[in-house]
Amino acid sequence: MTDKDYSKTSKKSVHVYDANLADGSDLRGFFESNSLVTATGFFRLTELYTGLTSTIFTTLHNDMKKDKVLQILSAGCSDGREAYSVAMSLKKLVEKSQISRPFAVTAVDINKNMIQIGRKGQYRLRRDELSKIDEYQEFFDIKEERLASVKPDITRMVTFKSADIMQPGILKYFDLIICANLLLYYKKEIRVKILNTLLQSLNKHGYIFIEGLGSRYMKNVGLERILPGSHFFKRLMTE
Ligand SMILES: C[S@@+](CC[C@H](N)C(=O)[O-])C[C@H]1O[C@@H](n2cnc3c(N)ncnc32)[C@H](O)[C@@H]1O
Repeated sequence: MTDKDYSKTSKKSVHVYDANLADGSDLRGFFESNSLVTATGFFRLTELYTGLTSTIFTTLHNDMKKDKVLQILSAGCSDGREAYSVAMSLKKLVEKSQISRPFAVTAVDINKNMIQIGRKGQYRLRRDELSKIDEYQEFFDIKEERLASVKPDITRMVTFKSADIMQPGILKYFDLIICANLLLYYKKEIRVKILNTLLQSLNKHGYIFIEGLGSRYMKNVGLERILPGSHFFKRLMTE
């Protein structure tokens, strides 16, 4: 399924979930029984990886104390493709630019089945993913029929956890939080609740990549868009 097709179907899912919420039905059950809502892909959102490798990682590195581990959260990671893509793109950047900065990725999803796949790190690559992973081949063992295992030098950078990101206090502190293709499944009040909960886990100098709340709302709650047209935000500096 292409991203374009997916965006059509996902709109439908939002309506399904709104209706379920009104019934008070179970959140975990919704995400575990609905295969559409786990749609993901290696290097899915170009703007995420471009922003991360062109600006965000280096800026964070410069703002942080020497030797501190840069902590990244993939919130709503589905089967782990996003978390591994982040680790691969940053490993390449660190090697190329010789930035001396250790980093770690925590990948969280409410769907336990997806977390199990992530821990295993083995995927049947879709045809549309093959070109996206082209420059990252070194991080995969690719067997027949596009069956690919992520190599241990990448899997060891990612820790998986099954949890509901709406529950406060379950996450530690992060320098970068990525929450992509998730808020669209929730109505506005819950989107706001999720953003507030995630912000409680964001370090002062940190960035959040998040879609689904308008610029005006983000500004009102003290978040400033970093790169024009992108979904990277930072807290506005106050005196
Ligand atoms: C469409 S996938 C997006 C995956 C990945 N972020 C990406 O952009 O490719 C949305 C994921 O968010 C997860 N999710 C939704 N609500 C969640 C919650 N409250 N806590 C944790 N995970 C959640 C779903 O289980 C699903 O796997």
